[in-house]
Amino acid sequence: MSLANRSLVTIDDLSNKEVEAVFPLADQMSDSMNRQSNVCQGKIMASLFFEPSTRTRLSFETAMHRLGGSVISTIDVNATSLAKGESIADMARVVGSYADIIVIRHPWEGVAKVVANYAGVPVINAGDGSHEHPTQTLCDLYTLKKERQTIRGLKIALCGDLKYGRTIHSLIYALTRLGATTFLWPGPGLDMPENVKQKLITEYGADVEKIPADNLPLLVGSQDWAGDASLDAIYITPSRAHQLALIPDISIPIDLVKEYDALYVTRLQQERLTATAEGQELKRDYPVVDKKLLKGKEFKRTLVMHPLPRIDELAYEVDADPRSMYFKQAARGVPVRMALIALLLGAKEVDITEKEVSPAQKRAYPFYRRDFGVSCPNPSCVSVQETETRYIKLEFQIVTNHPLTLRCVYCEHEIYPQYIASSDWHQGMLKNKKYHRADSHWVRKIKPENLIVFDSESRAQSHGFQPSNYASQR
Ligand code: NCD
Repeated sequence: MSLANRSLVTIDDLSNKEVEAVFPLADQMSDSMNRQSNVCQGKIMASLFFEPSTRTRLSFETAMHRLGGSVISTIDVNATSLAKGESIADMARVVGSYADIIVIRHPWEGVAKVVANYAGVPVINAGDGSHEHPTQTLCDLYTLKKERQTIRGLKIALCGDLKYGRTIHSLIYALTRLGATTFLWPGPGLDMPENVKQKLITEYGADVEKIPADNLPLLVGSQDWAGDASLDAIYITPSRAHQLALIPDISIPIDLVKEYDALYVTRLQQERLTATAEGQELKRDYPVVDKKLLKGKEFKRTLVMHPLPRIDELAYEVDADPRSMYFKQAARGVPVRMALIALLLGAKEVDITEKEVSPAQKRAYPFYRRDFGVSCPNPSCVSVQETETRYIKLEFQIVTNHPLTLRCVYCEHEIYPQYIASSDWHQGMLKNKKYHRADSHWVRKIKPENLIVFDSESRAQSHGFQPSNYASQR
């Protein structure tokens, strides 16, 4: 089956079968690295990195060179016309007319989606703000698969900055979809964002359970930072095909976790923090993985993983330990990215006979597309940047009615509007132009295509709507 002309913006752009089909091809690439130089001959990859990068950019560029293709690149926003106020869309159109495939990293969330919408060639997201980093996930999964043969049923603890870490977000989606159980072990104040948890529940049917600190002896071992009694972990199981999820009492599955298959460590994403004071505080109690922690019997065979770069959260003394996997993960970035580039350029095909739609294709939510009433609350979302608001139409998926939840199609942040109205206001009579509370029965009555949402009563009134009997708080 061909993946030609597809883009990889989020890990959900690939079905489970497609994700797994990348790995044998990566094996092939790895086994005969020097014999691939005719695979993408004559093709050009644009490598646009508007944030620091060592591994991702250089492994992508190495991959393209190994495949016999050429690379054009820019690594500084100030060296491009973006610095003059050019929009992402215009840049994408132009670069798409030069290159056969685009790889982009940028601090704004949802950028890769915009580039994919306008470039006319396959686009690979190499990290968009705190949102996603799907090719790092392919490298992580490839490592798990090579070391453990399967992903289903693995027990994996994700540790550190779960809030801003984009590698974590793509990874937990993939792990849950592929049947692994994950344990969230955030640094204080760095919990997994609510919208990610919601997506795990609503899209992949995951069971998410909060485990109080006292039930976590195995997880936290003898580590000092666990002395904080307020530390909670979250335990996530895929709802299907996993026996632990069938056990109702949450204390039981924890006791069953005798060993973790992998401990995925991440650094504090300092560059995403707004206030320096916040950074200092978060740094102080940030978890550290060292030899002492890994002495715990629950880590006896645990793979220690990290997307790198590391700062202080992973001690150098672990490097010599056979459980350390991070340099292997980084090295495997080349064959994995060679496989991906060759697939998206149509130079190779995946060995899948039966078509399986990806979660992104499967999603059939109604859309909310109006340029008033609400906007994306995420200041890092591409849709709210000054240069981009000239052409980007706000767009949300209406994920559920109870409570009314709209998810931004660019950054996936969710909003919960408090007031609603209908665009179908009965023969246009002004006196019928009413707004209601979003938790009233009107939320079920108004058809999605007629739905108007407001984040405040004053916003509703400024658009000429009057309160109905269902507008005030109960
Ligand atoms: C990660 C990233 O850029 O998100 N690095 C990488 O691509 N390997 C992780 C990080 O910077 O912490």
